[in-house]
Amino acid sequence: MKIDAQVFESLVAKYQQRVDAALNRWLPPSDVNPLRLHQAMRYAVLAPGKRVRPILVYATASALGIELDRVDGAASAVEIIHAYSLIHDDLPAMDDDDLRRGRPTCHREFDEATAILAGDALQALAFYILSHDPSMTTDADARLQMVEKLSLFSGSRGMAGGQAIDLAAVGKTLNIAELETMHIHKTGALIRTCVQLAALSTNQLSPQQFQALDSYAKCIGLSFQVQDDILDVTGDTDTLGKTQGADSARNKPTFPSIVGLEASQEKARELHQKALQALSIFGEEADILRYISAWFVERKN
Ligand code: IPE
Ligand code: IPE
Ligand code: MG
Ligand code: MG
Ligand code: MG
Repeated sequence: MKIDAQVFESLVAKYQQRVDAALNRWLPPSDVNPLRLHQAMRYAVLAPGKRVRPILVYATASALGIELDRVDGAASAVEIIHAYSLIHDDLPAMDDDDLRRGRPTCHREFDEATAILAGDALQALAFYILSHDPSMTTDADARLQMVEKLSLFSGSRGMAGGQAIDLAAVGKTLNIAELETMHIHKTGALIRTCVQLAALSTNQLSPQQFQALDSYAKCIGLSFQVQDDILDVTGDTDTLGKTQGADSARNKPTFPSIVGLEASQEKARELHQKALQALSIFGEEADILRYISAWFVERKN
């Protein structure tokens, strides 16, 4: 399919609706015990996030000619891991934020203990989906590899590790390499997983194609967090759905705080160009991925 800005927008909307329906099915009903826990899980996951990670899973699948119902499970699992990470990220012991996706944060709406448990339960749910969803690949080895990737990239060598680096860095000046390492882990790792899970849903991919997609994912994983840092400076609370200026208020080392705003914007543009280069072995079937890379660095929320 030939993609232009309008087609891209409608695909994004379609993928958002698709994953919302899947998430709604996977999440325990709010009238099932323990009520408060299930309500908190639904509150956090079904809040109006951008769904960039599921969109990336679907877009990669579409570029590779994989039926979307084969990746609904992966799309749901990554969004659920992401939602858990946001609940914990907002806790008083971490970033201590009151606003998320335009609403009170989970611990504000419920309470801290419920928020911690909702995060725990969501993490478990993500792995349940990935190991159970009957619509996914029938290749047991591929499914096992997906579980392996998600656990590795969301754990202490990936996202959770990045969060640990982030917390240890509060009030410190990092050099650019340290800053990148933090971002690559806390945010890049899960974004990389999205592309890998989709790629693992087909056995038609050459190692060269897999490498190209992985290089692309690494670039946009970093650019996404660079832009997140930029928006903390240039965005506004209403559009962001989270409190603008929270990073500087908390003395977080970020791209703008270390290299300045302009160099951060330049870095995001460079990463976008590198992402496009990584996709050069693909034809127009990968245009959707090219649009996603542009979206990541142009977005306003
Ligand atoms: C916010 O992620 C946290 C980061 C990793 C930067 P998103 O910007 O994807 O947040 P939602 O899902 O749209 O709320
Ligand atoms: C969040 O990074 C990364 C994870 C949740 C893993 P941030 O702390 O910058 O995210 P926001 O700005 O609160 O969304
Ligand atoms: Mg944080
Ligand atoms: Mg935060
Ligand atoms: Mg941030």
